Amino acid sequence: MKKSIRAFAPATVANVSCGFDILGFAIDELGDQVEVSLCETPGLRVVNIEGDGGRLPYEADKNTCTVAIQAMLDQLDYKKGMEISLYKGLPLGSGMGSSAASAAAALVAANALLGYPFDKKQLVDFAVKAELIACGAAHADNVAPSLLGGFVLIRDYEPLDVIKLPVPSGLYCTLLHPHLELNTSDSRSVLRKQISLKDSTIQSGNIAGLIAGLFQKDFDLISRSLKDVIAEPTRALLIPGFYELRDAIKSVGALGSGISGSGPTIFVLSPSKKIATAVGTKGSEVFKKIGLDVDVYISEVNDRGAYVI
Ligand code: HSE
Repeated sequence: MKKSIRAFAPATVANVSCGFDILGFAIDELGDQVEVSLCETPGLRVVNIEGDGGRLPYEADKNTCTVAIQAMLDQLDYKKGMEISLYKGLPLGSGMGSSAASAAAALVAANALLGYPFDKKQLVDFAVKAELIACGAAHADNVAPSLLGGFVLIRDYEPLDVIKLPVPSGLYCTLLHPHLELNTSDSRSVLRKQISLKDSTIQSGNIAGLIAGLFQKDFDLISRSLKDVIAEPTRALLIPGFYELRDAIKSVGALGSGISGSGPTIFVLSPSKKIATAVGTKGSEVFKKIGLDVDVYISEVNDRGAYVI
């Protein structure tokens, strides 16, 4: 009988405003599933993809699942093959870490099939190779939280230094996904290549404040720190309703908002489920007013990350 393992990996919010490419957190329930089967014929083959509207590649050197697994197998002496089936739960180009969740689920399933040669933190290195294929940038702020769960800081990339941060209880996230699509490579192309000393100081203060706020469970400090002067000023122009939404959610008591990853999804942090729900209602109104349909998800921060089903 063919030995198969299926894994789930969650959606993620990367950047979290001030943490461009260095901070992300995982969301509950929403995510991708990947089933990996061992087989005698050498090589990796994607045999089935569902939920992508026929848009994702089957070629092993282009699909994020196979690219990630191949990076892992390059470190091992594994001579046989694997077949991969991908079940997309996440929309493409949404800013919720869709390509990252596929790579993370694929790695967790393949790693389990091989008897756990790596721990989850080591898998981040392999998943980053898949992000490079997916969007041209080897960023880890989606794959790391998707694999590990919780809030994750990428302190450095060379070599990767990935640090899990505490999650204050009572912190809720509302995701508002307007029905638009933005490719990460396009959203990265609008970024300024240079930032001023002043902006660098502002951004450093806010990322330090946000991390201190997570450690101190200080919602007010978290709220003051949710500011991005690096990516948001140019990217917000790609998201209709971005500033209207930011103002509207403050009136219902949210801590703050920002672009989820490279957008167009907007994340809003709130100090209770009640406020997170009110944010969903208010946010939907803002997008409806400008003629955009929107999906709303409400979640605590998912501290578990990817797992074998
Ligand atoms: N840090 C990446 C970016 C996340 O902002 O481009 C992409 O989801």
